Amino acid sequence: MSRINENFLKLPGSYLFSTVGRKVREYQEANPDKRIIRLGIGDVTLPLPPAVIGALHAAVDEMSVQDTFRGYAPDLGYEFLRSAIAEHDFKSRGVDISIEEVFVSDGAKSDSANIQEIFSADAKIAVCDPVYPVYVDSNVMAGRTGIYDIAAGRWSNVIYMPCTAENGFIPDLPQQVPDLIYLCFPNNPTGAALKKEQLQNWVDYANRNKAVIVFDAAYEAYISQADVPHSIYECEGAKTCAVELRSFSKNAGFTGTRLAYTIVPKELVVDGVALCGLWARRHGTKFNGAPYIIQKAGEAVYSEEGKKQVAEMVGYYMNNAKVILDGLKAAGYTVSGGVDSPYVWLKTPKGMGSWEFFDYLLEQANVVGTPGAGFGPSGEGYFRLTGFGSYDNTAEAIERIRRLV
Ligand SMILES: Cc1ncc(COP(=O)(O)O)c(C=O)c1O
Repeated sequence: MSRINENFLKLPGSYLFSTVGRKVREYQEANPDKRIIRLGIGDVTLPLPPAVIGALHAAVDEMSVQDTFRGYAPDLGYEFLRSAIAEHDFKSRGVDISIEEVFVSDGAKSDSANIQEIFSADAKIAVCDPVYPVYVDSNVMAGRTGIYDIAAGRWSNVIYMPCTAENGFIPDLPQQVPDLIYLCFPNNPTGAALKKEQLQNWVDYANRNKAVIVFDAAYEAYISQADVPHSIYECEGAKTCAVELRSFSKNAGFTGTRLAYTIVPKELVVDGVALCGLWARRHGTKFNGAPYIIQKAGEAVYSEEGKKQVAEMVGYYMNNAKVILDGLKAAGYTVSGGVDSPYVWLKTPKGMGSWEFFDYLLEQANVVGTPGAGFGPSGEGYFRLTGFGSYDNTAEAIERIRRLV
């Protein structure tokens, strides 16, 4: 008799975005004349840059010719892409990463969900609160998280690290020592970024306690301040305690095209086993390689024109984030993020709850954002707006919000 993995039944429903979608749909149906502006999205909206489109077309043409046709890609990624990554994302910042440490994949979402598989079933995880939900849910599926307390919105066997206004949305080192620490900086949803010194503290803590950090740097391209590290490996000792996740989604607009990579340094050894080899074994067994044409498109991101075009796209979104940040500040809101991140995190006014403010904004300004409570209990009383919309919509949305005050 077959049985299911009962851990899946423990997962609470995907409440956040489905509820947001339903509320917006219902409001629009009841008010067909209202023009709703969506600033809740975490997805990019600009088209792929021309350098990427050119590379895609060329690669598609190669696939039509016998001599240049490609079948299965190498499991771990084509060498041309892995070496471009090592060169442009790391060597250029003084970090020496060899191509054997670069694992190309179809997304940071899958990598962040899958990485837990190579750790023991009783590994204790620590996550920020609020948090990108994939880290927790993938560990729920693996049976690591204990029992869910619906009222508290927390799992009994997870170490939560509150990110609040008091600590500047930067988590304190946990008292109880975890085995696996998920850190995402620049952060989704708060938009907070870690300075080098702060990240170094985490690296030292992990090395001291033999913990492993899963460092999600999906928003690295949005860093604007000089003292914010782009890679955890800019910190001394990080190669013995951290894996790093990167994505082509938010910098180059690959959310629908799918490309990412994970760095697992050779020096990272747990229980006497090098994780690099373990991850290669896992990746090679469960993943058959990102498509050739997409990896060629990824390579084009590192060309001179690709870099310039990507910087322009990031600049466009960051200008939107600045419009949100400055506009809300001028309207008297307490806001953060938006400097090294496309996300702006605002405190809901007049003590409103996150969902109450969502309804208020939808009904009074016809603007959609994301309630902070949806990312974890410490997100209650906060709200996320993103710079991923169009400039005109962003400016109009902020003007509408300002008129409410
Ligand atoms: C923190 C974080 N990591 C990873 C991802 C997913 O990246 P990808 O598109 O590469 O799967 C997202 C997407 O929103 C994210 O916010």
